[in-house]
Amino acid sequence: MYYICRLGALKNYIWFVCDLLPAYLIIAPLVFYEVNNISILITGGCGFIGSNLSLLLKEKYPFYSVTALDNLKRRGSELNISRLKAAGIEFIHGDIRNREDLELDKKFDYIIDAAAEPSVMAGMGAALSYVINTNLTGTINTLELAARSGAKFIFLSTSRVYPIEHLEHINYTEGATRFELSAEQTLAGVSERGIAENFPLDKARSVYGSTKLASELMIEEFREFFDVQYVINRCGVIAGPYQMGKVDQGVITLWVARHYWKKDIAYFGYGGTGKQVRDALHIFDLFDLVDFEIHNFDRVNGKTLNAGGGMGSSVSLQELTRVCEEITGNKVGSQSVLENRKGDIPLYVTDNTKIIRETGWQPKRDINNIIGDIFSWINKNEQQLKPILDS
Ligand SMILES: NC(=O)c1ccc[n+]([C@@H]2O[C@H](COP(=O)([O-])OP(=O)(O)OC[C@H]3O[C@@H](n4cnc5c(N)ncnc54)[C@H](O)[C@@H]3O)[C@@H](O)[C@H]2O)c1
Repeated sequence: MYYICRLGALKNYIWFVCDLLPAYLIIAPLVFYEVNNISILITGGCGFIGSNLSLLLKEKYPFYSVTALDNLKRRGSELNISRLKAAGIEFIHGDIRNREDLELDKKFDYIIDAAAEPSVMAGMGAALSYVINTNLTGTINTLELAARSGAKFIFLSTSRVYPIEHLEHINYTEGATRFELSAEQTLAGVSERGIAENFPLDKARSVYGSTKLASELMIEEFREFFDVQYVINRCGVIAGPYQMGKVDQGVITLWVARHYWKKDIAYFGYGGTGKQVRDALHIFDLFDLVDFEIHNFDRVNGKTLNAGGGMGSSVSLQELTRVCEEITGNKVGSQSVLENRKGDIPLYVTDNTKIIRETGWQPKRDINNIIGDIFSWINKNEQQLKPILDS
């Protein structure tokens, strides 16, 4: 009797599985296609941030289509083309200043805008038109593509939207190795945690910062009138491997490179002792954030968020020198230049309170991880990088 019952149950089970099998075979590939049929365009895709995000996205989501567009203006960006292609990322040699270069056949679900002239010194001399045409007109051209494509727009803005004069007038004290934020502040949006999104926005901020703030305004217009969904990340210093650091941009790589190849460093301004402070965000932490935003877009849609390393990953130039000495094993000479550099500020640390509250994301790596990873990258690619980083 027992065996007859078992036999009956088995028969029912087989019928049940056969019934399900065809449906499963049809639905599973559809679900797989739906989940993985995501197409992402990264402008500035051969730059420091663009190339890292492209490669990390493709590595984590091999079935996504990732396209990197870049005009290769930044020296060293050309080195990334072969890495991108080897990973299955399509490279388009294009310039966001030209609308025609953005008339692409493909449709995109997401556009990450990482093409820019990112130096705060840019535009203070002759090259004003390049900064404006790339950082502002280029963003507008890219927004038009987002509107045509129905793509969600992830914009990498900057802490440099906050005005220089206000940042110069926050209350801080001079510690042994760094400037330190005071508990008592008179301006809105600044506390011992750092600078928050409600920091005042009037007054000048550099041409670079203005083009990014003007882009933020245009992004809101595109949301209102062209239905482009967006998130704006106002980032402080971002650092890590594949940043082609130079005197006016990418100071952390520059510092590691100077120690690696034993070249002198210089402390500019604020007494020439290197007490200026910045927080640094590891590129992998930025990837974690962008990954979260792509996959939880409703949580960040229409928001402007400060995103940085925060107090835990803040460092003064003097302290940065000590970390570089420890990690490279090299000590280099230093010069002091008393005069302040145009556009420099004594202190910027991101207050991540809002972004943590909205997303749960927070940086996991600190300045030692950043310097260690930059050092390993230079060490592994010394010959290729020497002409670019040691000049
Ligand atoms: N690196 C940082 O610390 C930092 C901090 C805050 C915000 N950001 C923002 O992140 C974005 C990426 O910065 P990054 O550090 O990777 O800079 P990057 O210079 O390494 O990369 C920018 C890339 O854009 C390309 N590019 C420049 N002009 C272009 C144009 N007209 N058309 C197409 N491509 C062009 C360059 O060749 C380069 O490969 C920028 O928008 C920058 O404002 C960077």
